[in-house]
Amino acid sequence: MNLIRRPRRSRQSAAIRDMVQETRLSVHDFILPLFVMEGHNIRSEVKSMPGIHRFSTDLLLEEVGECVDLGVMTFALFPNLPEAKKDKYATESHNPDGLYLQTVRAIKDRFPDVVVMTDIAMDPYSSDGHDGIVENGKILNDPTLEVLGKMAVAQAQAGADIVGPSDMMDGRIGHIRQMLDESNFHDVAIMAYTAKYASAFYGPFRDALDSAPKFGDKKTYQMNPANSREALIEAQLDFAEGADFLMVKPALPYLDIVKLLHDTYNLPIAAYNVSGEYAMIKAAGQLGWLDGERAMMESLMAIKRAGASVILTYFAKEAASLL
Ligand code: PBG
Repeated sequence: MNLIRRPRRSRQSAAIRDMVQETRLSVHDFILPLFVMEGHNIRSEVKSMPGIHRFSTDLLLEEVGECVDLGVMTFALFPNLPEAKKDKYATESHNPDGLYLQTVRAIKDRFPDVVVMTDIAMDPYSSDGHDGIVENGKILNDPTLEVLGKMAVAQAQAGADIVGPSDMMDGRIGHIRQMLDESNFHDVAIMAYTAKYASAFYGPFRDALDSAPKFGDKKTYQMNPANSREALIEAQLDFAEGADFLMVKPALPYLDIVKLLHDTYNLPIAAYNVSGEYAMIKAAGQLGWLDGERAMMESLMAIKRAGASVILTYFAKEAASLL
């Protein structure tokens, strides 16, 4: 055959394939989500997330140390709280002496170079299990912003480098930016959960935090998985309100959204490879139905190829150890 173009020429050896490779993963791409719980010397595996644990603060610090040794420098922290600490207004969320903010302080004390990203949303502290204040079965937007603003300032005071509003209330980025600036935290960055979809893939995370909604679902604030143009509205608002990063969540089922935001905005794009995405690969790997390690690396690569320069992933430690 007289073929002028033979793409296989560029695949014929490992060295050539490496040379023409367009996307390369690095440990610098990763943010590892971590779950903290009360107690001492506790390491409790999340049943639906094999290999992922909830740690008491002392052991969490050891885990951070191990990850730092592998080159992972950024951590997104989430709290598992006993039901007794939860209330309607998520009061515990801005308690400077509470588990969460004390742990942020402890990480920054022990590892000053580590980047701590905190989570802003009411659900882990809410007796309703929702991301906002509930009244008569409705999630109230504007009153919730006041709580979120308090959380942001309290987290900044504890040493957070990046705050991550994951709640999907309208106007929260602007409100949080204003509250941070009024308290002189101009350098604390905001990673907006810009396009956060009402997804079934959050199930294992809610197991980890015991944070599932006590009634209903999150469809009045998280986005409809059927929509992509709506993601541009959210992105436009987050950009205008001062977000430093735009995030898409989940990652793999929403790579078109990652690409859309990447092609439309010049801010760094993050993608959250969520708990259910982790669980699927781990489960199939454990059953021997696919090669878990290869599926993990291929997924992370695909997320980066689509346009995410930051990947929040429970695989961060494992992938870092391979890289
Ligand atoms: C809630 C929150 C969720 C996740 C991060 N923050 C779940 C939810 O909206 O119910 C999910 C992360 C994951 O599944 O890994 N503010």
